Amino acid sequence: MRDRSVPEPPELFSWEFATDPYPAYAWLREHAPVHRTKLPSGVEAWLVTRYADARQALADQRLSKNPVHHAEPGKTGIPGERSAGLMTHLLNIDPPDHTRLRRLVSKAFTPRRVAEFTPRVQELTDHLIDGFAGRGEADLIHEFAFPLPIYAICEMLGVPREDQDDFRDWAGMMIRHGGGPRGGVARSVKKIRGYLAELIHRKRNDLGDDLISGLIRASDHGDHLTEAEATAMCFVLLFAGFETTINLLGNGAYALMRNPDQLARLKTSLAAGDSGLLETGIEELLRYDGPVEIATWRYATQALTVGGRHIPAGDPVLVVLAAADRDPARFEEPDTLDLARRDNQHLGYGHGIHYCLGAPLARLEGQIGLRSLLTRLPDLQLAVDPSELRWRGGLIMRGLRELPVRF
Ligand code: HEM
Repeated sequence: MRDRSVPEPPELFSWEFATDPYPAYAWLREHAPVHRTKLPSGVEAWLVTRYADARQALADQRLSKNPVHHAEPGKTGIPGERSAGLMTHLLNIDPPDHTRLRRLVSKAFTPRRVAEFTPRVQELTDHLIDGFAGRGEADLIHEFAFPLPIYAICEMLGVPREDQDDFRDWAGMMIRHGGGPRGGVARSVKKIRGYLAELIHRKRNDLGDDLISGLIRASDHGDHLTEAEATAMCFVLLFAGFETTINLLGNGAYALMRNPDQLARLKTSLAAGDSGLLETGIEELLRYDGPVEIATWRYATQALTVGGRHIPAGDPVLVVLAAADRDPARFEEPDTLDLARRDNQHLGYGHGIHYCLGAPLARLEGQIGLRSLLTRLPDLQLAVDPSELRWRGGLIMRGLRELPVRF
């Protein structure tokens, strides 16, 4: 007989779950911290929700990122899984291939290069805000959070200005259709792949100071990226850095508007020219309602134990970052937004060898984006009741479809 003292497990991946997954995560952490469940695609996978288990699993080399280790390769349900070539990128491979590619890209995508990019990100941000500042209202997702990261990554990669709007449309298709018809995603992935391959080929004969040229130049003891590897690398930079940053700006602005005391505190500190609270605040926004709900797929290469549960070889393991980052065993008052939070080692950027390569760029866009919004639109507030907002309920990312504001 079922133990009546343990409540029913919550329904995962429902509309309510997409709107607010945190009660379900609290239930899982408490009653079933390593939980086998059927995903909407029909695939069975383990969800790891406690902070300590999550951190350990992210660093465990027996958990592979390579889908060939799935018990039924080809049936993981990952969109684009079959896009040959393009998917051989950092997020789908293990050492030693991962070590080699990550070392090469790290030579081109350095924190210094990102820092040099500051004035351009500020210019892009100002231009976007100019587009709606006089109107008194806007949709922060479509007019701000969506275009900023895509233009930023285009500029970094060295996509010529005249091609950037096409690129924006393809990338938009890629996420608008995420979870929808596969055909739309596959078509836009194909367009992006074709475009990037041609651009890389062209740049090989005409190197500049952009990131693609840097990737072509990068070498390590005589080792270089092949053109196919460079294409897959640009693709991962684009898709890993796009929807994530939209959600950082969108979820971040939303959380601030829902927490007026914190918002007021941040505005006061920005007005005093102090960016300390903004810096800790971005980390707290990543912890509190981060862009990535679940770190990408991992597969058990051998039978192993996580959080006391036996996981057979071949099973997929999903580390639920958003649940781990609200674990009361690690964070004091985890459901409270505290922009000045200390000791905030959140897992929003992952952990271990796959730790987010783009974190410096994400931080730059987050800081410039939120600072500019709050200083230029000091009366920023939600224009609708929160219950009217729709969340994009993907399995990996968490973000708003639209964010109507007035100011
Ligand atoms: C990896 C989060 C922005 C590029 C990751 C991972 C997370 C993450 C959680 C690890 C996934 C795993 O272990 O399965 C985020 C968040 C962002 C952000 C929250 C924004 C706030 C960016 C940007 C770029 C980027 C702007 C680049 C332009 C990458 C790449 C990887 C990665 C290339 C794979 C690294 C590897 O496997 O070695 N990111 N990311 N990310 N991210 Fe980000």
